[in-house]
Amino acid sequence: MLIYMKQNNIKILEPLVAQRIAAGEVIDRPASIVRELVDNAIDAGSNTISVELIDGGIERIRVVDDGCGIPQEDLALTAHSHATSKVSEIEDLESLSTLGFRGEALYSIAAGAVLTIQSTTKGEMGSHITFDNGKRGEVIPGGPSKGTVVEVKDLFAHIPARRLFLKTGASEARMAKLALIEKALPFPNLSFYMSHNGSPTLELPQTTPKNRVLDILKTHKEIIASCVIEMSYSAASFSLYAVATNAEVYRNDRKYINIFVNNRIIDEYALTQAVTYGYDPFLPGGAYPYCYLFITVDPKLVDFNIHPAKREVKLRNKAEIHHSVVSMIKQFLNLPTVQKTEHYASSKELFDQSPRNYQIVSNFHSSYRKEKGEVEPDWFNRAKQVLQKQQDEKKEESISIVHDIEFKYLGQLFSLFLLVEKDSSLFLIDQHAAHERILYDELKTVKGSQPLMIELDFEVERSIDTFLLENSEWYKEFGITIIRKGDLQWALTSIVPHYKLVEEDIIRSIQGYSGGNIEELHKMLYANTACKAAIKDGDIIDDDSAIALIKKVFALTYPVCPHGRNFVVEITRDQLFNTVGRIV
Ligand SMILES: Nc1ncnc2c1ncn2[C@@H]1O[C@H](COP(=O)(O)OP(=O)(O)OP(=O)(O)O)[C@@H](O)[C@H]1O
Ligand SMILES: [Mg+2]
Repeated sequence: MLIYMKQNNIKILEPLVAQRIAAGEVIDRPASIVRELVDNAIDAGSNTISVELIDGGIERIRVVDDGCGIPQEDLALTAHSHATSKVSEIEDLESLSTLGFRGEALYSIAAGAVLTIQSTTKGEMGSHITFDNGKRGEVIPGGPSKGTVVEVKDLFAHIPARRLFLKTGASEARMAKLALIEKALPFPNLSFYMSHNGSPTLELPQTTPKNRVLDILKTHKEIIASCVIEMSYSAASFSLYAVATNAEVYRNDRKYINIFVNNRIIDEYALTQAVTYGYDPFLPGGAYPYCYLFITVDPKLVDFNIHPAKREVKLRNKAEIHHSVVSMIKQFLNLPTVQKTEHYASSKELFDQSPRNYQIVSNFHSSYRKEKGEVEPDWFNRAKQVLQKQQDEKKEESISIVHDIEFKYLGQLFSLFLLVEKDSSLFLIDQHAAHERILYDELKTVKGSQPLMIELDFEVERSIDTFLLENSEWYKEFGITIIRKGDLQWALTSIVPHYKLVEEDIIRSIQGYSGGNIEELHKMLYANTACKAAIKDGDIIDDDSAIALIKKVFALTYPVCPHGRNFVVEITRDQLFNTVGRIV
């Protein structure tokens, strides 16, 4: 039984209690302290930043930088609430180029640890100060030879409840390392180092943007430099730059799709989705790239002040950015190698020239389009060509798909392949890709919409609202009915039966698309929903469904999935016999 306490009268909290409550939002573990202290070091114009951890940072975190330092007269103010040198007027938030702007980080850290700041500005002797769990000490002469050293000791020693949530030193050190990596990615022109209990855990010397990514992915053996490409795009109010894998390398999760806006990593599903849309025609279903996408946006159009750790952002031109991300990726994955190499040079130079707040101003993207015409992939033509080429090259391995559908279904292998004996061959059929293709074909022909039992309401951004007002009829072509309920408010009211269970994905697609033409919308919608609705790797399917699927596969002229990949492997009886040394 819950017992409710009688409420007391309203009182103003003791300053230290208030400070600790507020601090909980900014600082919860060593990794968040590392994030804040490294932000400060970057804002101070440092070239080299080192982070030393003892016991995962719980016992001690020390961040050493060679930046501009803090003047002696300001030192006592640093851990004061709302004390910042980065913003003084509300208008400053509209042209923000620093990572810090609230004047809250040191104040929050000082509330729950022993914080010592030693700092020296150019031409000064330097000084230091200690804040002991909210109590400010004296400013004492004597600082480092250059820059600032910030030390945080005995984290949460006086806040046992918060200490309880800390993990082991090793886990905290791992999280702190990830936090430093996130900071280091947008600043390849700076050097970052980390050690834990005296042993180096991260060494990132100054380098190019691409090499920074390669250094960070060093332990991923599948990543080789030739599989990593750079892409860029520039519009009036934003620019995009990405270091990412090409279609030869992929993973089955989205973990390495990282989005940065104005040098801060952010959690923004819609932009992660834009990356996956861009890669969609080039990767098999359920596969995702490594992609570090750096978006530079006019600060006027961005608001980071909606989350205490600045991980969320409001972007006023999100739909436009979304669209550009998708088309940039498609464009670059389609480019011939020579073109890409030329472009790399230009984007790298621009990055190097303006290191702290890089702007990529290349108009290569648009000029390429003009010269070469529209280079949107036509999946089926491309896939047919690939298949034709394979058949020409390896005649003996070619797949002869015939229309008399007599076969023996042998079962599932690895919960992924359907095994089929047909004529004198063994066929392995990738169940996900096969189903995806079949659904894709069916979706193209199925007409007739069925009303949903319960309409699904959703909200859209202004630009999407405008787009839908003019183009909601486009969706009708696919049996999708949407109606406007009010300003920015829409509802999904009917769909074709094939879209059952993927309604949420349809809505997300609608929320993210304000694009070019109906053709592109067709492709996006078909490939996305077919992929989502298809049976997955690992799904166990019953014999009847397997047989129905196999029949459809054998009726296809070209067994390639909507992403252009072959999904049927044939091993002939002769090949099998040869393998075991039998006379055929
Ligand atoms: N390593 C450093 N080098 C130079 N100045 C620093 C350093 N760390 C902090 N400062 C000074 O102390 C001030 C307070 O730092 P703090 O991190 O608390 O706030 P902020 O960076 O201004 O904003 P935010 O709370 O968003 O991080 C900064 O504005 C800056 O003037
Ligand atoms: Mg700060």
